[in-house]
Amino acid sequence: MADPEAKNTLTVTDNRTGKTYDIPVESGTIRTMDLRQIKVSEDDFGLLGYDPGYLNTASCKSRVTYIDGDKGILRYRGYPIEQLAEQSTFLETAYLLIKGELPDSERLAAWTHNIRHHTMVHANLTKFMDGFRYDGHPMGILVGTVGALSTFYPDAKNIFDEEMRKLQVRRLIGKMPTLAAMSFRHSVGFPYVLPDNDLSYAGNFLSMMFKMTELKYRPDPILEKALDVLFILHADHEQNCSASAVRSVGSSRVDPYSALAAGCAALYGPLHGGANEAVIRMLERIGSVQNVPGFIKSVKEGEGRLMGFGHRVYKNYDPRAKIIKKIAFDVFEITGRNSLLDIALELEKIALEDDYFVDRKLYPNVDFYSGLIYQAMGFPLDMFPVLFAIGRTPGWLAQWTEHMLDEEQKIARPRQIYTGAGKRDYQPISERTPNASDERKIGMCRL
Ligand code: CMC
Repeated sequence: MADPEAKNTLTVTDNRTGKTYDIPVESGTIRTMDLRQIKVSEDDFGLLGYDPGYLNTASCKSRVTYIDGDKGILRYRGYPIEQLAEQSTFLETAYLLIKGELPDSERLAAWTHNIRHHTMVHANLTKFMDGFRYDGHPMGILVGTVGALSTFYPDAKNIFDEEMRKLQVRRLIGKMPTLAAMSFRHSVGFPYVLPDNDLSYAGNFLSMMFKMTELKYRPDPILEKALDVLFILHADHEQNCSASAVRSVGSSRVDPYSALAAGCAALYGPLHGGANEAVIRMLERIGSVQNVPGFIKSVKEGEGRLMGFGHRVYKNYDPRAKIIKKIAFDVFEITGRNSLLDIALELEKIALEDDYFVDRKLYPNVDFYSGLIYQAMGFPLDMFPVLFAIGRTPGWLAQWTEHMLDEEQKIARPRQIYTGAGKRDYQPISERTPNASDERKIGMCRL
């Protein structure tokens, strides 16, 4: 228990100089800039914090999403993820994330209308799509086309104009499923499908993905609902890699399309949004339930990771994984059981009992079961991170808007600890004699 009389400061003694400093503590945090006063001499730069991967550094104050990783809690704007998944819709959750409160029915109707109004993309964008290689990864296409939107909407540069910001938010949430579906249709050579605004957000996306010659695509309501819930579960996750990319790139005051293209790029990586795709590839490699113990052994011996397991923040369980596991069984009722499910269940069972995973607090994360659902619904593997990107768009936009309005923020510009060569004089090429270690480096480059 904290002593109510105690001072909210941290007293630090620098043993190099014997000097003592009182550093204020606010919300369990010290400002790293307060370390700068700690110097060994007048010309010393001052003490820096070193934190690769931001393991223990808060980069912002945020009111959007709360996570308690030890207790497995995730809340958007205070609302538990379990309640939103059960009772809300993706568009309502998007409203909540961006505006901070749940809408009344009039506001929700207006918001839904406004998003629908922006589902079409400029006809020239199809030419961009067509320029990508026939088998281009849809996530690579999404990174490129989200960035390209900035050239269609130069007004988006007015990031301190509230109405302009709101317009880009509506455009991005509206167009993301259209771009996502187009990136898929391009990669398989199908003609693009125009948005059908009679359908729900998820239903319209399914239509743009899978509609063929029928006059009207009618999504299966259970699959439509499952996809909507999956979008809700992915809608935000506070300062993860892609949200930090959006904030960091956005801090240069570039337009939101460019900032969100950076978010998509970050999400593409196998340690982030690419993990659900990696889970399926892993399950396919394992091949059968009998091979699971051997696979677990190889992971423990350091030969790769158990994809879909572990999280930087959740060290108890990922609350999203619990909800997704339940949805998986609802979806399999309609689509038939995914043959990889048994391997996944066996992997989960063994890993949850194994000391290696228990000691390191490695539990299934959001990606462990989501890929199985997407695959059962007919999405090809390389669309999985794209689906994640659609869900994450309102979260990125909420984080971006908050960052733009935060007067404490500056352009993101970390410090470094320089470990390279000291000053040395340039030599003409004829006078250079490479040393042995340089030779080795050149050899490596040639490899
Ligand atoms: N399989 C096997 N060992 C693991 C795994 C795993 N999936 N994850 C972590 N470890 C081990 C790691 O080798 C290390 O062991 P040791 O202490 O012996 O060196 C220890 O656990 C700590 O790992 P870490 O890399 O320091 O942990 P991190 O917080 O930096 O990484 C993570 C978090 C999600 C990148 C990592 O757990 C991982 O690579 N998981 C697999 C990829 C994955 O499923 N990613 C999706 C994350 S959830 C969706 C999202 O938000 O993007």
